[in-house]
Parts: sequence; C-alpha cells; structure tokens
Amino acid sequence: MAKKEIASTRQTTISAQPRTHQRAEEIQAYGTVSHGLPLELEEPVRLEMTEQLNLLLADTMTLRDLYKKSHWQVAGPTFYQLHLLFDKHYGEQVEIVDEIAERIQLLGGVSLAMAADIAETTRIERPPRGREEVPVQISRLLDAHQIIIGHCRQLSRRASELGDDGTNDLVVSDVLRANELQVWFLSEHLVDVPLVHAQDPGVRKAG
Ligand SMILES: [Fe+2]
Repeated sequence: MAKKEIASTRQTTISAQPRTHQRAEEIQAYGTVSHGLPLELEEPVRLEMTEQLNLLLADTMTLRDLYKKSHWQVAGPTFYQLHLLFDKHYGEQVEIVDEIAERIQLLGGVSLAMAADIAETTRIERPPRGREEVPVQISRLLDAHQIIIGHCRQLSRRASELGDDGTNDLVVSDVLRANELQVWFLSEHLVDVPLVHAQDPGVRKAG
C-alpha cells in the first residue's frame, strides 16, 4: 500500500474507541545508537559507552533489588537498624539506575529495562529465594558493590580516554562515590567487636 493510502486510511478510522492490544515493529533495535545527534561524540564511542553503561545498569538494578530483598527478609537483633539502612541504600540505587538509563538514552542508545533482560546480563551471583542470615546478606551486598566499583574504575578511565566526559563524570561522581559510601556503611557491620564487655587486653590476639 502506498504511503498516501496508509495516511488516508488512518484519517478515516478516527474513533472514540480505545485501540487496545496494539503491536508494531520496534522503532530502534537494542545495541544500536541514533545517528546525527549534535553531541560531538562519534558513533563508535557512543556504541561502546552505551554497551558498557548497559552492563553497569544491569548490575545496579540487581544490587537495587538485592537491597529490597534484604530489607524485607532481614532477621535478628539488628533488624530495625538494618531494615532502615537497606531501604535507604535501595532508594539511592533507584536514583542511580535512572541516571545510568537516561545517560544511555541521551547518547542515542537503548537502555535495558525488564527483569528477564537484567537477569541474563548481570554479573552478580543470584541469591536463593529464601531468607539468609545477616552476615550472608551483607556479604552478598558487598560482593555486588565490588563488581560495580571495579567496573566503574575501568569504565571511567575508558570514557575519559574516548573524550566522553559526561559518562566519566556520571560514573565517578554519582555511581562510584555512592557505592563506596554504601560499602563503608555495610562493612562496619561485619566488624566483630564486643557489644557490652570490652575485651581483656591480655587475651587480645595478634592480627
Ligand atoms: Fe519497606
């Protein structure tokens, strides 16, 4: 059908009825970038950066969900404190997810979004569905942070090399620094110090 005929068909079917259950071809394939954006960044640079940012996005979305799982399933005497801390970090990761995804879109790419795609892409180990004790919850969170932090250091250097200062700034200022701070707050919970009775200096072990 010629373009003119399609346009006229659409005009004649105007109706107050909602047209539900519609499907059509994608308007942009995953793994591609738009041409001709006035960003002064070449297409190969934007392709590499959006690919790397999608990996960072998948890991960040997984860490975000790991925080909510931990928030809901935490148990024990530190329940209240950790319940609140895990949710605070969850909220901060939600904001980071949005910043990474929108950076991918503004570079002309396509952001990952759905859980199934995230599960296929993330490098973070899948936890069991059931509940785990606090030291395990915190260890899993720290392992996830370590993957993200390592990737941030690599990605920020590469972005800088390629002249993508915006990505470098996002990765260092928003992702890396927030993750470093959250690691500090978590790791202090794995320090085994006495709660009530100070240790006798005579029995302190070396190391
Ligand atoms: Fe809650």
